[in-house]
Amino acid sequence: MEMEKLVSLCRRRGFLFQSSEIYGGLNGFWDYGPLGVELKRNIKEAWWRDMVTGHDDLTVHDGAPSTYEMAGLDCTIIMHPQVWKCSGHYDLFHDHMVDCRETNRRYRFDQVRGRWVEAKGERIFVATKAEVEEEVADTQRRALKYFNLRAKDADRLSWDDQFCTLPEVDSPEQVLAPDAKTLNTLTPPREFNLMFKTTVGALGGEEDTAFLRPETAQGIFVNFKNVLDSTRVRIPFGVAQMGKSFRNEITPRNFTFRSREFEQMEIEFFCRPDNSRAWYQYWRDRRMRWYTDLGLAGERLQLREHDVEELSHYSTGTADIEYAFPFLPAGEYGELEGIAHRGDFDLRSHMEGKLDEKTRPLEVQLGDDGKPKWRGSGKDLTYRDELTGEKFTPHVIEPSAGSDRATLAFLCEAYHEDEAPDEKGKMQKRTVMKFHPRLAPIKAAIFPLVKKDGMPEVAQRIYRDLIQAQIHVFYDEKGAVGRRYRRQDEVGTPYCITVDGETLKDGSVTIRDRDSLEQWRVKADDCVEEIRRRVELA
Ligand code: GAP
Repeated sequence: MEMEKLVSLCRRRGFLFQSSEIYGGLNGFWDYGPLGVELKRNIKEAWWRDMVTGHDDLTVHDGAPSTYEMAGLDCTIIMHPQVWKCSGHYDLFHDHMVDCRETNRRYRFDQVRGRWVEAKGERIFVATKAEVEEEVADTQRRALKYFNLRAKDADRLSWDDQFCTLPEVDSPEQVLAPDAKTLNTLTPPREFNLMFKTTVGALGGEEDTAFLRPETAQGIFVNFKNVLDSTRVRIPFGVAQMGKSFRNEITPRNFTFRSREFEQMEIEFFCRPDNSRAWYQYWRDRRMRWYTDLGLAGERLQLREHDVEELSHYSTGTADIEYAFPFLPAGEYGELEGIAHRGDFDLRSHMEGKLDEKTRPLEVQLGDDGKPKWRGSGKDLTYRDELTGEKFTPHVIEPSAGSDRATLAFLCEAYHEDEAPDEKGKMQKRTVMKFHPRLAPIKAAIFPLVKKDGMPEVAQRIYRDLIQAQIHVFYDEKGAVGRRYRRQDEVGTPYCITVDGETLKDGSVTIRDRDSLEQWRVKADDCVEEIRRRVELA
């Protein structure tokens, strides 16, 4: 699938728009249009329902060590600044950036790709920020220009086959930066904290600086005691939260994949240290199943366990659920969700003071004065087992997903081009979004075949019945019925209900399935049950 086709459909049919588009847009910010908002809400609602409100506390689920409980939270975006000091985001949440002295452009060090080329006795590294499918052409064009060669002399350029990234290049003086004309214009990499700063209150001094949360997780940790004290949950239990997060990404790119404002869906699952590994494995598999159940199946989805070198040293396991987004080079996958075993790092940091990630066992990080570098809350965040009287700091398993990335993956997976017959039976090309019915923005469209003979009245009655049953449907009486089908296929509506001449005789309507194109008749009065059953059973 070509990404441009999906991007164009998203804009044309109202899934996604650039934020503030009439002013030229703002890099890294996206708005969901009338259909996009429904799709994203359906994804978030599916997550909340499957993980929280629909969770069965009484049953031991497949692969789970025992029963468990789930609860939800909705915390503020701006929190006490100490939260980010103890979580490590204040000191450690940064990327490396490089600036180009020639063009004043800024790049994320690890994201600039390029390839080596030799001509006229000189070897240089041509860096590029072009999209993957254009990077060969872009590097060739710029190398020709640098070596002052014409297009017909392209065979005088001797290329290394592989593209690599800037961190793999150890001679910066040979680098032709992505938009530069001369060599060696990039500064050495510098750290850049990704948290957005803001000011609380009118005075605006340094002590009023606060941050927009870069993750929803910390709101859960700092409310751990509140949840325990205000509910009857007992370990093991999970707390879920979904909401906005903000990261001042150096180079937002690839549509919504890396945005500066995005939404997360996170669970912190608190359990006993001695069976935390088994819970980690349960959550890894449970979360993978969630995506496959909603239609992200096949070769494009993978579960990748991190190598030991990739793990934070306090973690005994981290896995990523990854999707082969079409904008990535062949064979590469992008992260949809991370499932991390975080040990007791977060609760202890908020209790005792920020722990030093490099110590083992974990110890509080000390400042030059020998005191904790960042003081914790001093509140007791341990757990007391009522049966045994044992007191311990729970271990945490964190399945952390992004709703925008999930939405993007479901959009990519849904996009299909095939052929379907028009009203004369002639095969025509069609674009169809094969969303899972639970996620589809519109569940059914209702058409009167013609705008006369009482057909609109019957169709409108069916429409109202479905709306009253809280099923999101769409009524359309304009244009040829084949075109109406095609417009619904393009936005992924799984069922179309048509009122025709037969309806007036026997009260039956046609229902057409978006994917199989199968058509069958049901009584107009049975439409609500038919659509509800099909959407729920899917
Ligand atoms: N609490 C752990 C945490 O935040 P993360 O891997 O940094 O972990 C979790 O983020 C998820 O949030 C990612 O897997 C991704 O789906 C989403 N995410 C992170 N940064 C994002 C960005 N800049 N744009 C869109 N989604 C993002």
